[in-house]
Amino acid sequence: VVEAAERMRRDLNAQPSNFYWRALQPLLESSRESLAAYLHTRPDELLLLPNVTYAINLVVSSLSLLRGTEILLTDHDYGAMSLTLQRWTELRDWNLRSMELPFHPGITPDELFSAIRNAITPATRVLFLYHVTSPTGIRLPLKEICAYAREHDILTIVDGAHAPGAIPVNLAEIGADFYAANLHKWLMCPVSGGFLHVSRHRRTDLRALITSWGWGYTRPEAFDPSPLGGQRWQADLEFHGTTDRIPQLVIPHALQLREQLGGDAAIQAHMQHLANHARKVIPLPCATAQHPDLASPLLVFDFPLPNGTDCNTLRDRLYHEHHIECPLTQAAGKTYLRVSTAIFNTESDIDSLASAVRKLH
Ligand SMILES: Cc1ncc(COP(=O)(O)O)c(C=O)c1O
Repeated sequence: VVEAAERMRRDLNAQPSNFYWRALQPLLESSRESLAAYLHTRPDELLLLPNVTYAINLVVSSLSLLRGTEILLTDHDYGAMSLTLQRWTELRDWNLRSMELPFHPGITPDELFSAIRNAITPATRVLFLYHVTSPTGIRLPLKEICAYAREHDILTIVDGAHAPGAIPVNLAEIGADFYAANLHKWLMCPVSGGFLHVSRHRRTDLRALITSWGWGYTRPEAFDPSPLGGQRWQADLEFHGTTDRIPQLVIPHALQLREQLGGDAAIQAHMQHLANHARKVIPLPCATAQHPDLASPLLVFDFPLPNGTDCNTLRDRLYHEHHIECPLTQAAGKTYLRVSTAIFNTESDIDSLASAVRKLH
């Protein structure tokens, strides 16, 4: 995939005008179509963007909510997302409330759904959710939560950064208003390949963060084809002048690589097998849910911080002393060792981590 990206980047730099005027549009469309098919949605609901940070800023800055409106999020959070919500909440005088997510190895999808449903109040107008929580790898039952939110006229914004490629993602079934994700984490695209799915009835609600050639169409033209690729509303939101969009253009190559590796089912089975191995050999209590519907290749182990140290120091010791990249994360006042079991990992990688943890602890 990286080689395909490098070939494209050579073409781009050899003839930038030709690339932006003629080559970009068909490549964008082929990427958009293959990603839409993979995610069970339609190309005319997808924006190809650099990353989740960009996508969520686009959504949150476009929200048109009354002062005092409540946005509900959870305490198993990714900092850059809650900072984005905090910033716009302060600017617009909304109210941001964090709820406690239940978290224990015996947790069920019903328990997670009930906790979120019970935290919603009549003031809640927006739910900010993760598909897989970043510090703890909890997989939320999005389909049920989004259906409940729809019934109660609550807008749903989902950060799915850790989902595509890691677990099956069916956007039509999930039914969120906005769903953003990265493709470099688990799908095997290069960094700067991300997307935002916008449900059909929300497509003209977004306001571009960056003004370029796509701006300035009239509302009835929103779904007409744009000479910049995609429809006019898509070009307005995703065309930022001469930026490097190649990570978004090699999505078909990443999907093809996945097929060569046996397809998603085989990849996810390998990752799950390694996750089960990690549960057995890592010498720490595993905090991740055992329920099969909550399984993801991100699992966490309780790791109380020894006095006088912090997460990043321990993470860097793992890297420098043991050549292992494995973060320590925090949520709801607890510290975890977060283990990612990817397709390129092996049982012996996990065994090395287990032995490093013994030395570290
Ligand atoms: C849950 C979650 N959201 C958002 C992000 C931000 O990703 P990016 O910096 O690529 O926008 C990450 C990155 O780790 C993440 O884990």
